[in-house]
Amino acid sequence: MRFGCRVRVCGLLVGLTVVTTSLSSSGDEPFSRAVHQAKSRGGMVVSASKVASEIGRDILAKGGNAVDAAVAVGFAMAVSWPEAGNIGGGGFMLVAPPEGDVRCIEYREMAPGTAHRHSFTLGETALSHKAAGVPGTVAGLFLAHKKYGKLEWAVLVDPAIRLAKNGVFIDRPLASSINKVLAMPVLANDDRFNELRRVYGKPDGTLWKVGDTLLLPDLASTLQRIADLGPAGFYQGPVAKLIAEEMSRHEGLISEQDLLAYHANDRAATKGKYRQFEIFGAPPPSSGGTCTVIAMEMLESFDLRAHADRFSFRTLHLMGEAMRHAFHQRALNLGDSDFIEISPQLLTPEFALALAEKVDLNSAGNSVELAAPLPIVEESNQTTHFSVVDADGMAVSNTYTLEASWGCKIVVVGAGFVLNNEMGDFNWIPGRTDMKGRIGTEPNTIQPRKRMLSSQTPTIVRKDGRVVLVTGSPGGRTIINTVISILVSHLEYELPLDQAVRGPRSHHQWLPDTLSFEGLLHSDYEQEVARLNKVGHQLTRRYPQGSAQSIAIDKNGVAWGVGDWRRSGFAAGVESDK
Ligand code: DON
Repeated sequence: MRFGCRVRVCGLLVGLTVVTTSLSSSGDEPFSRAVHQAKSRGGMVVSASKVASEIGRDILAKGGNAVDAAVAVGFAMAVSWPEAGNIGGGGFMLVAPPEGDVRCIEYREMAPGTAHRHSFTLGETALSHKAAGVPGTVAGLFLAHKKYGKLEWAVLVDPAIRLAKNGVFIDRPLASSINKVLAMPVLANDDRFNELRRVYGKPDGTLWKVGDTLLLPDLASTLQRIADLGPAGFYQGPVAKLIAEEMSRHEGLISEQDLLAYHANDRAATKGKYRQFEIFGAPPPSSGGTCTVIAMEMLESFDLRAHADRFSFRTLHLMGEAMRHAFHQRALNLGDSDFIEISPQLLTPEFALALAEKVDLNSAGNSVELAAPLPIVEESNQTTHFSVVDADGMAVSNTYTLEASWGCKIVVVGAGFVLNNEMGDFNWIPGRTDMKGRIGTEPNTIQPRKRMLSSQTPTIVRKDGRVVLVTGSPGGRTIINTVISILVSHLEYELPLDQAVRGPRSHHQWLPDTLSFEGLLHSDYEQEVARLNKVGHQLTRRYPQGSAQSIAIDKNGVAWGVGDWRRSGFAAGVESDK
């Protein structure tokens, strides 16, 4: 039986006040597993952290707009979901105001001033001070607030301070996340990680259990400085000093001047069309928006739904081919647009159509033939995405990250937060492009103060000028294809958002030349998988792929929040009698 027939649909939820529920699931069937849903006309927040979603919802309820709520969620997750929520990393916040252009507050980390194209050698580890880029989150959240916020800045940081001071409730995902990082053998007997152990270890030395409380007093003090002074509380003064000292003790590169020089940017969102929908995404230095537009515009030309089901051989094959081409273009052309020229051609329908013409309907393409071999570094699975809409029609789609889970695993002594290892997103070894190794193309080589190429893909879709979908995901390069999988399900096949989020996702990143499919071993897809194999796709199973905390807004203005089952997403809607 096809996936789409089995699940219960959103329409079963009734009433206009917020109703939260978990839909039915049938045990071992991963793609009918419960997602956490809420509906509301009063505003909605969906994130991977229950307490952070509730903090965002409360900001909306007290009159804040979607950006206010997003800022509060961003800080709260730095406390409640420390493996990815952060003030020591960076990201991209897409903002769709009720009227006017969609913008991207870009707060990607920057290379330190002393970094250069040969800063890293083969075999170098990303678990080091040197792997940290200059953090962007505080500057980014501040810029978003300055441009769009309604409530006072300190009011938005305050819930995170209280959480850090009074203690975070340890639930199952948090217990497992902290216990896992502390047990990593590579961290043992290495005093660079002493602060991680001191700050996140349970005081009695045992494992964290559900129901315990984690106190983070140093982080509370750092957040208090940020609440009082804005970015100056982080990029200058005692916190900046602590970061610079941490670096100089361990051959890290970030200096006080680098911190002072950091700035976030207010950029135009990338924009593409898919049928009657406008798709907005993160521009360079992310590749997310550009790749999504290329792939979706290619797919539109194949008229997917008119020919076959969502999880048919034909649709999965064509999606794989569109992904292959989009990732090829990524490697060839994308990097930080403040340092390299990026042709606006990439975002034109003609460009996508020309790529679509290269696709064979009955045979897998060959990535090595497509261009010289430029293999891709594997990335880990830890970033986090949250989506917010308010009652006035403003929407925020925010993805931010430390790169790996817990970044470089280094906590700044005395400042209480984890640093990213985002320098790994640059092409470390220029020109080195072997089949198993790293990508070495020029656009993404290291330069001082350049931003490394990202795959983060916060996405907003509008129809007739009104937001209808907000989505995004963690997952390294799979992020882009998680978003594409959801867009195809929801926009092309018109699956309700809960089904679009639940369903199996696929991923192709050009090289390695493999197509991964979450449903690979699932009996429902056996025949389609056999056909994919037959036409030359090398199939692998990647499971789970991403975690897309998403919101759809229906034509009556009701927001449907869907928390992804893959990473305990939680949707919190504002109670409303409208
Ligand atoms: O910005 C990027 O492309 C990545 N470094 C994001 C890393 C990531 O998503 C890891 N896991 N979820």
